[in-house]
Amino acid sequence: VKIIKLGVIGLGTVGSGIVRIIQKNQQKIRETRGCCIQVKTIVVADRTKKRKVDLRGIKLTDQINDLLYDNEIQIAIEVMGTIQPAQTYIEALLKNGKNVITANKDLLATNGSHLIKCAQQNHVNLSYEASVAGGIPILRTISNSFTADQIIEVSGIVNGTSNYILTQMTENHSTYREALHNAQALGLAEHDPTNDVSGKDSAYKMAILAEFAFGTTVPLEKIAVSGIEQVTKNDILQAQKYGYTIKLIGQAKILEDSLSVSVQPMFVKKGHPLANIKDENNAVLVTGASVGEILFYGAGAGELPTANSILSDVIATIKDIQLNITGSKFNNFSRTTNIIDANK
Ligand code: NDP
Ligand code: HSE
Repeated sequence: VKIIKLGVIGLGTVGSGIVRIIQKNQQKIRETRGCCIQVKTIVVADRTKKRKVDLRGIKLTDQINDLLYDNEIQIAIEVMGTIQPAQTYIEALLKNGKNVITANKDLLATNGSHLIKCAQQNHVNLSYEASVAGGIPILRTISNSFTADQIIEVSGIVNGTSNYILTQMTENHSTYREALHNAQALGLAEHDPTNDVSGKDSAYKMAILAEFAFGTTVPLEKIAVSGIEQVTKNDILQAQKYGYTIKLIGQAKILEDSLSVSVQPMFVKKGHPLANIKDENNAVLVTGASVGEILFYGAGAGELPTANSILSDVIATIKDIQLNITGSKFNNFSRTTNIIDANK
């Protein structure tokens, strides 16, 4: 049986989930895909830290070159987060002929076009299903299932941490601080949770979603963004009193011939599909001209749901390697649309 060797950068929440899922499902992968997946090398910042996963047979290193120059490794997974040095590492990996899978929305939303071009030039794949809505397979679904339709709007709840905080404040009367602390303890929040609560993380994800849905690169400065830091218990009570709940909503929609993208806390009427999305769950509501509304719902963050999305990219990449079709764009749709500056 052929063994596909992986290198992983990062062994935090998501990295640990990747190791666990592969160990647990090895036999199923072999039976259904006809190959074995083996994590050969994991790069971390601190090699001496105690780990929560079984690392037998895996090389743990703090040297990126151990992965970069290992010719046996065809697929590298970046789950270390933040823009630098992740960008430098990914670029080097692509140039070294490695297929790359990442969950790094910060990087994709700010430098995605450059990295996609780099992957194409080097005839390798760059995929990032886990970068938007954690465990919901939304990017590949939009790519594959709306080709013959015209998407008019993509909206939803795309940050698990802020939805968890709002749910805890609404249903358990937690304070903002307590709820944020719990979200961090559960591994939902970013290492620095500022982007989660300020709406920036949602803006990154809406930019990536808009690229898939509308074929257009959205400059982040055109997205109007506000977060949940200013939402008070009193706001929540007032909303409840009038039959609403407060949710952090991302919206990308076509207005006449232009695209408008925004992220803001909104009053959502009870009974609306997005009003019932609780805890770290996410939901993406896609409206197609032909199909109408479709709601995609599931865990938006967390170890195993996110790792599962990464593994779906691994399996897709292995298939592309076997068929010798690497170098194609993960999102192969491109169209130029005027972007409304939502801040004006
Ligand atoms: P963590 O903070 O839990 O883990 C980060 C890992 O990266 C750690 O193992 C750390 O090493 C390692 N690391 C940090 N800096 C370096 C470096 N310079 N070189 C090598 N390794 C380094 O992050 P998460 O697992 O939560 O998130 C990872 C990525 O996945 C991020 O991009 C995040 O946005 C994204 N993501 C996360 C989700 C979640 O639910 N957590 C969901 C969807 C996406 P060490 O352990 O030694 O400190
Ligand atoms: N911190 C992010 C969230 C992780 O809470 O949604 C998933 O991207």
